[in-house]
Amino acid sequence: MVFSVAVIGSGVMGAGIAQVAATAGHVVKLYDIRPEAVNKAIEDVRKNLQRFVGKNRLSAEVAEAAASRVQPAARIQELAGVKLAIEAVVEDLAVKKRLFAELEQVVDEDCILATNTSSLSITAIASDLKRPARIAGMHFFNPAPLMELVEVISGLTTDPSSAELVAQTAASWGKTPVHVKSAPGFIVNRVARPFYGEALRLLSERAASPASIDAIMRDSGGFRMGPFELMDLIGNDVNFAVTNSVFEAFFGDPRFAPSLIQQELVHAGFLGRKSGRGFFEYGPNAIPPQPMNEPPASAPPSIMLNDGDRFAQALQQRLNSSAILLVPNVTKKDSDYSVTFGDTTLAITDGRTATQRAHQMNIPGLVLVDLALDYKKATRLAIAKAHQCSDLAYASAVGLFQAAGYSVTRMRDLPGLAVMRTLAMLINEASDAVNQGICSIDAVDAAMEKGVNYPLGPFAWADKIGAPTVHAVLANLAAYYGEDRYRISPLIQELLWSGRTFHSKL
Ligand code: NAI
Repeated sequence: MVFSVAVIGSGVMGAGIAQVAATAGHVVKLYDIRPEAVNKAIEDVRKNLQRFVGKNRLSAEVAEAAASRVQPAARIQELAGVKLAIEAVVEDLAVKKRLFAELEQVVDEDCILATNTSSLSITAIASDLKRPARIAGMHFFNPAPLMELVEVISGLTTDPSSAELVAQTAASWGKTPVHVKSAPGFIVNRVARPFYGEALRLLSERAASPASIDAIMRDSGGFRMGPFELMDLIGNDVNFAVTNSVFEAFFGDPRFAPSLIQQELVHAGFLGRKSGRGFFEYGPNAIPPQPMNEPPASAPPSIMLNDGDRFAQALQQRLNSSAILLVPNVTKKDSDYSVTFGDTTLAITDGRTATQRAHQMNIPGLVLVDLALDYKKATRLAIAKAHQCSDLAYASAVGLFQAAGYSVTRMRDLPGLAVMRTLAMLINEASDAVNQGICSIDAVDAAMEKGVNYPLGPFAWADKIGAPTVHAVLANLAAYYGEDRYRISPLIQELLWSGRTFHSKL
């Protein structure tokens, strides 16, 4: 027989979790200190299930049966007899501790307790319980019925069998559970910080406009949303609060330092979509933000391609039917440049600025290209021009990219441009989490793909571009800024020296 589940707290998350459990066949007892919240949640579950019927995702009978399995509990005592109790009340340690202490009086000894906390320590929540071994984190993502990821969090006192039961239950509900130790931000809210942090940092250094950075991250990086539109959607107050809480939880580690720009937005009440204004304006009269695109320029008649280079290979494919003569450069096969023509040299960023690299390598006409998820399919390229590069040499680079079908966005000449720099920092954070034994490599990739829809997990992407590239970008960022924020994770250093990939490491 399918066991009964209790959901405590009938807000946004409680209702979503109840719907998921009921759809999977469990009788769900729903409790809240506000009985009206329970009634509203039951109504919401019914409406949502009806929507699934409308989209042919569920039959009318299955939806009706699921809805009728969600039952109101007027008193906490009515939760006796459940085998799994999931708490989704307000994010307040004292409230959660009190609730679990009360629950312990009501449920059987073998009932597993789970908390949907998004930021509190599981160890702290469990600290006063009689049986702290039976409590684990079960962190759903909003909206729970649609988001596949569930972070299963073990505190210091959690018994592995409790975490395993939570994970197995999540899997049987069609979710992807990932195991993680109780540490600030768990996986997603920690590893995702640089996605916002580097974008804000780039903005603070006038790298490009928010609309341009968003377009680069989408059209070149393959992310579903750019960082600024995403912060506006999440709410700048919420996003700023999460960053602050992770920053404080890591005792002020500069890697997580919040942004003054975002703080100013919060002070002004520019919270994003919900307030009508954030990085962008919203509402019927708002003009949709446009990225900066370079105006049309003339392409060079011929180019030399370094055929060992990923970007050069993509250009070759994209320019095959153009009038541009494509000459393979066999002599410079292992150089780190992609393309040369006239006075222009094109290369993928390695974390040095174009000006720095042009100076160090004595190539004045250097134009750097940002990383793309797939240069063959990308619709936009972000580029930066060395100060030494002439306007003419730069314009012909723009013309070449346009002939290959890319929209071109010029950034200020900052290290690592946008996609490469952000990705390197995502990989760096993920590497530290793995290095510290918080979670596995596969857990990170699954979490970032399923929890925040990244086009590739950070480690899968790292193996695509290679640990030496990730290391070089971070080392160059660290040297340029001289800040602890860009220090390189020991795991990446180890991979560089061992010549192994992330996936062969563990
Ligand atoms: P919410 O504010 O929509 O709902 C919280 C509910 O808990 C309210 O109905 C409130 O009456 C009830 N409640 C408060 N104290 C209670 C108590 N002692 N006993 C029973 N019920 C009580 O909050 P939401 O957004 O659903 O969040 C709930 C939990 O889930 C929080 O811990 C939050 O951090 C976490 N979470 C939230 C996500 C989100 O996107 N909203 C995503 C993932 C986790």
